Amino acid sequence: MKRIAIYPGSFDPITNGHLDILKRASKAFDEIIILIADNSNKHSRFSVKERLEMIKGAVEGLKNVKVGSTKGLTVKYAKEHGANFLIRGLRAVSDFEYEFSLNAANEYIDHEIDTVYFMSTTGHAFISSSYIDSLYQSGVDISPLVPKSVVKMYEQKK
Ligand code: COA
Repeated sequence: MKRIAIYPGSFDPITNGHLDILKRASKAFDEIIILIADNSNKHSRFSVKERLEMIKGAVEGLKNVKVGSTKGLTVKYAKEHGANFLIRGLRAVSDFEYEFSLNAANEYIDHEIDTVYFMSTTGHAFISSSYIDSLYQSGVDISPLVPKSVVKMYEQKK
């Protein structure tokens, strides 16, 4: 049986921290689908179309990685795509509480889908999408922290 996992998130924008988790997880699964959660209640910097474009550019070399988006529940998407696992990254203890309740909600919806956690490597532990945005808006070079496709998108939106 093919081991398929979903890596869900807002990815607004995707960072090298996310990519680090993705690359390591891609060695453990046959296929990974990066899933952009299209949450209309959450103000997003980039549209789903822009986020798809940035992610596709960032994962070009990863053969077993696909990209998708949903307005619905992550576990429902997982079930529909034959995935039994979700992937999430943990940067610090502060992430734990949120992940704990997210996992409980997902388990309530479908207990057959399990979440696998990858710990951030130290160099990536401080990165978050909003930090990237603040740094860029303040004129700080973000290129060591994000894929090229993200820098390009920021430049295009200027
Ligand atoms: N490296 C860098 N940054 C990371 C990171 C990592 N390894 N892991 C998390 N982050 C950052 C993100 O950049 C983001 O930063 P920001 O707050 O500054 O923008 C923050 O951590 C949280 O992002 P993310 O991991 O994308 O979580 P999220 O809260 O945006 O996403 C979903 C949560 C989308 C997975 C979850 O809400 C979901 O599944 N939604 C769909 C609806 C659903 O099924 N809900 C389930 C319960 S009802």
